[in-house]
Amino acid sequence: MKKLLPALLAAGLAFAPLSFARAQDGQEPAQNAASSEEAAAGQDAGAEAAEEGHAETPHYPLKHPEQLSWSFAGPFGHWDVGQLQRGLKVYKEVCSACHGMRLVAFRNLDDLGYSEEQVKAFAAEYTVQDGPNGDGEMFDRPGIPSDYFPSPFPNPEAAAAANNGAAPPDFSLLAKARAVTRGFPTFLFDLGTQYQEAGPDYIHALLTGYGQEPPAAVEPLIQPGTYYNPYFISGPALAMPPPIADDQVEYPDGSPQTVDQYSRDVAAFMMWAAEPHLAERKATGFVAMIFLVVFAGLLFVVKRRVWAGTPH
Ligand code: HEC
Repeated sequence: MKKLLPALLAAGLAFAPLSFARAQDGQEPAQNAASSEEAAAGQDAGAEAAEEGHAETPHYPLKHPEQLSWSFAGPFGHWDVGQLQRGLKVYKEVCSACHGMRLVAFRNLDDLGYSEEQVKAFAAEYTVQDGPNGDGEMFDRPGIPSDYFPSPFPNPEAAAAANNGAAPPDFSLLAKARAVTRGFPTFLFDLGTQYQEAGPDYIHALLTGYGQEPPAAVEPLIQPGTYYNPYFISGPALAMPPPIADDQVEYPDGSPQTVDQYSRDVAAFMMWAAEPHLAERKATGFVAMIFLVVFAGLLFVVKRRVWAGTPH
């Protein structure tokens, strides 16, 4: 058994160059020739298409989101409670007409700095379906803190039918479900900077990206009833009309009432909805890193002590 392994290895070494040599002679050049012909044909097709005025298939999104600075970014990330409150207001007054948030309960809003009484009052402004009652019928009642945000449509089909065929996605996890890939080399730096804000950056870019002129090559691809937006991740245009305009939502704290500010606030709020424990996660992670550094130092000292008497 002890000799078998080296023998097998030696046999492998002896045969490897043989099979390599066989692959080299004859067949390979022919294959190369075939593939270079194919490549040439491909280029010709491309050139023909260009001459006839066909553009190449566009890649979406047509524009990449701008990277913004968020309070919850980086290892010391924390929520800006005022911003989350403004974002909730934008969601409630504007987006909730079409988008649900079925995984977030009213009681979760105490994270946003609201008292129990305020949360109760907020929940009571909604009507939720409950039941069945003793007669087997469903009934409506005012919301209580343990209820979840109700969805504006009874089912995705009804949502799609009311919105030109595209159902508005639920907001609960959307901020973590959308991210534009950043490509080489940015994604390598992202490992170092721990960039995790692609979702809110995308949402902000999408909301502020309406009202631009589509390029001539893209214009014919825009379906009737959809709205051009170069930041939309899966096509030139989407079924959501521009949802918000300047001065549409009143901010009691004096923040600017602009589409840009609304978009930042609602994107931050959506990030909170998708990952409510983000700040705790980062704080715990930081303490864990300190612990690991101290622990590594201790292990080093222990190792030196344990092996101190052993001659090299
Ligand atoms: C009139 C209904 C309506 C309102 C109001 C509305 N949306 Fe939408 N939204 C839609 C529809 C419909 C879609 C699906 C679009 C599609 O897939 O073509 C959508 C999609 C989205 C998407 C996902 C885009 C993607 O990449 O798939 C985001 C993000 C979004 N909306 C954010 C918002 C925000 C934030 C607000 C509030 C400021 C808002 N929406 C208000 C109808 C609406």
